[in-house]
Amino acid sequence: MDGQKPIYGLMAEFDDATALVEATKRTYDAGYRKVDAYSPFPIEPAWEALHADDRRVQLLVLCGGIIGALAGFGLCYWTQVIAYPLNIGGRPFNSWPSFIPVTFEVTILIASFTAVISMFALNGLPMPYHPVFNVPAFARASEDRFFLAIEATDPKFDRARTLEFMNGLGARAVMKLNHSWQNLASISIVAFLVLVVAGCRQDMHNQPKYKPLRASSFFPDGSSARQLVDGTVARGTLQEDVAFFTGKVGTALVKEMPFPVTKEVLDRGQQRYEIFCRPCHDSSGSGNGMVVQRGYRRPPSMHIDRLRNVENGHFFDVITNGFGAMPDYKVQITARDRWNIVAYIRALQLSQHAGAADVPGGDPTKVQSPVAGERRH
Ligand code: HEC
Repeated sequence: MDGQKPIYGLMAEFDDATALVEATKRTYDAGYRKVDAYSPFPIEPAWEALHADDRRVQLLVLCGGIIGALAGFGLCYWTQVIAYPLNIGGRPFNSWPSFIPVTFEVTILIASFTAVISMFALNGLPMPYHPVFNVPAFARASEDRFFLAIEATDPKFDRARTLEFMNGLGARAVMKLNHSWQNLASISIVAFLVLVVAGCRQDMHNQPKYKPLRASSFFPDGSSARQLVDGTVARGTLQEDVAFFTGKVGTALVKEMPFPVTKEVLDRGQQRYEIFCRPCHDSSGSGNGMVVQRGYRRPPSMHIDRLRNVENGHFFDVITNGFGAMPDYKVQITARDRWNIVAYIRALQLSQHAGAADVPGGDPTKVQSPVAGERRH
């Protein structure tokens, strides 16, 4: 190298594709092998002139496919025949037709991974920097200029003689390709980024927080989930109206309905009753619902004197807290709906015990028939 600074190679610039192809052919014939051509668009004759017929990816993919096929079939064979043989319908353990899907999948899997990875590896990607970019004229390689480069690592490369050879190719210009500090710069940027990423810490992610239901060594009871502070009330759920929410004042049961009974109240009460109470108490309230017919304990009829004369608050309390064998419905039914049901139960009771005074026009015959009808239960 005559003590000169080492270079990456030499590059010639051409005006058109024909000149490039011609020069490429002559370069190849002259024995240069580490040659590359750059053009704004793909030129097939240039590839041919470069003898760019690298088939290593194909070969590697074939190998990957064979390895995949063997691995897939081997996996099936090993699991089905050796490790965990199961007699399925008397078929032989080595039922190879059923191994085909897995073998096929693994073949494709390994082959395609090999294709992608070997393509990147053989292309030398990712390549953040290349010495051709050190030549300002090279910017036109993607517009209207054609370039041919001979690398200094070519065994035939001799700076003076190769320069002379290239000058004889009819090029517009021949230039040196320097290694430059940009190389180092880009490497250091990549290295810096790697360091930055490596320097990322997981502190935000690994917070000293408790996952639900984890034990705690801090609190004396060993539980990380804390009870609400006594007297805490969630927004909008302050149950100040004790009579409304418990059906009692002190220990005394509430007698009156907490709100006026309208048709809407009764309709809503009926609808809720049909959903929640009818399965046991039945539609008429006599206590012979489907669940009872299937063996559940039979509740008392709503029409017995005790329940007809009991305070409204009793019904509310029974729905809220349950009663003997009857489960509570505090969670399923809102307080307002519980009162709606109470109003409906009152209507049910009245339906079975209405006197002449309860009927418009005071005609008692209109009252008796439903009573007789309900007795069938
Ligand atoms: C799963 C069946 C079942 C359902 C559903 C059910 N109950 Fe009961 N209920 C019973 C049984 C059983 C008893 C009798 C409990 C006992 O004496 O142990 C009873 C008793 C009662 C009593 C009488 C309490 C007393 O003083 O004797 C009332 C009132 C009552 N239920 C109302 C309701 C209302 C209102 C609903 C609907 C919100 C309802 N029940 C839903 C099974 C049920």
